[in-house]
Amino acid sequence: MKKFTTIDLFAGVGGIRLGFEKAEFDTVYANDYDKNCKITYDANFDKVPLTIKDITKQSDANFSSVLDDIKKIKYDVLLGGFPCQAFSIAGYRQGFRDSRGIGDLFFYVAEIIEKTQPKAFLLENVKNLKGHDKGRTYKIIKETLESLGYHVKEEILNSMDYGNLPQNRERMYIVGFKSKEQFDRFKFPKKIKRSKKISDILEEKVDPYFYYENKSIWEKIKDYPFVENIVYQWRRVYVRENKSGVCPTLTANMGTGGHNVPLVKDKKGVRKLTPLECFRIQGFPEEYALPDIAKSHLYKQAGNSVSVPVIYRIATNMLEALQS
Ligand SMILES: C[S@@+](CC[C@H](N)C(=O)[O-])C[C@H]1O[C@@H](n2cnc3c(N)ncnc32)[C@H](O)[C@@H]1O
Repeated sequence: MKKFTTIDLFAGVGGIRLGFEKAEFDTVYANDYDKNCKITYDANFDKVPLTIKDITKQSDANFSSVLDDIKKIKYDVLLGGFPCQAFSIAGYRQGFRDSRGIGDLFFYVAEIIEKTQPKAFLLENVKNLKGHDKGRTYKIIKETLESLGYHVKEEILNSMDYGNLPQNRERMYIVGFKSKEQFDRFKFPKKIKRSKKISDILEEKVDPYFYYENKSIWEKIKDYPFVENIVYQWRRVYVRENKSGVCPTLTANMGTGGHNVPLVKDKKGVRKLTPLECFRIQGFPEEYALPDIAKSHLYKQAGNSVSVPVIYRIATNMLEALQS
């Protein structure tokens, strides 16, 4: 059976790569500009370590250098969870090549697609991309991809319905194929029943560091009727319970400033989720190694990443479409 190759852009800690490699794709290039991601990434992938380069044109040389790297490699599928902080499409009318600015990372991806012509791509982003600016932003993204000769479809999938994970995480997945035939054959995965519960991802032995008793916010939360195995959020002045029995969307800024890591009660007390639990809630495999770096980096990496089982299911369907 032919192996298809992928490049992993905005690779973070490799969540998309894990899903594609599980579906038997081979990674041939990986890029991100975050050195802390590289520590985690390289601890987990023997072949093809993370190349650290800023893709944007704060100096244009950076983009050319990433593009040159990719041009030297033959690959089939482009993967990218491009950052979602801003969707500024100002300047679009000048054509996407000239329109770059902060937040326009999509256009760098589009240019790589244009110049290297993969057979297919998967782009991942926040749910709001679809409705942003009354749908105009995504319209431009889709039209841009179609103008490069691709057939494109998109869907919003929730990890609790499509990945058998106890996390409410809605994300937009954009899939494109060059071949119309392959495009027609590709279907997004169907809903599956969820069996994984919060109790399945909790660690048995947790360091006292994570517990709230004797911490400053304890006074404010100690009277809340916490129940075991339910995830809560501390919202500055009140505790919010997640009624559906799943964890709220893990975010990149949890664990920093006023953004708190979700809370859970276990036999010993009320505590925040550990980084390992956050990675489990994203469906990372048990053998995935978390390096000894600041916990804040690990929380950010988990929140920024993807739900691996959802990616795996999309990858499987893309493989089927590509194979025939
Ligand atoms: C939403 S995260 C994607 C995470 C990834 N899908 C994963 O599973 O971990 C976006 C990533 O883009 C990277 N990034 C942002 N701006 C970048 C740039 N200009 N050049 C290269 N990487 C960039 C960030 O460091 C971050 O890891």
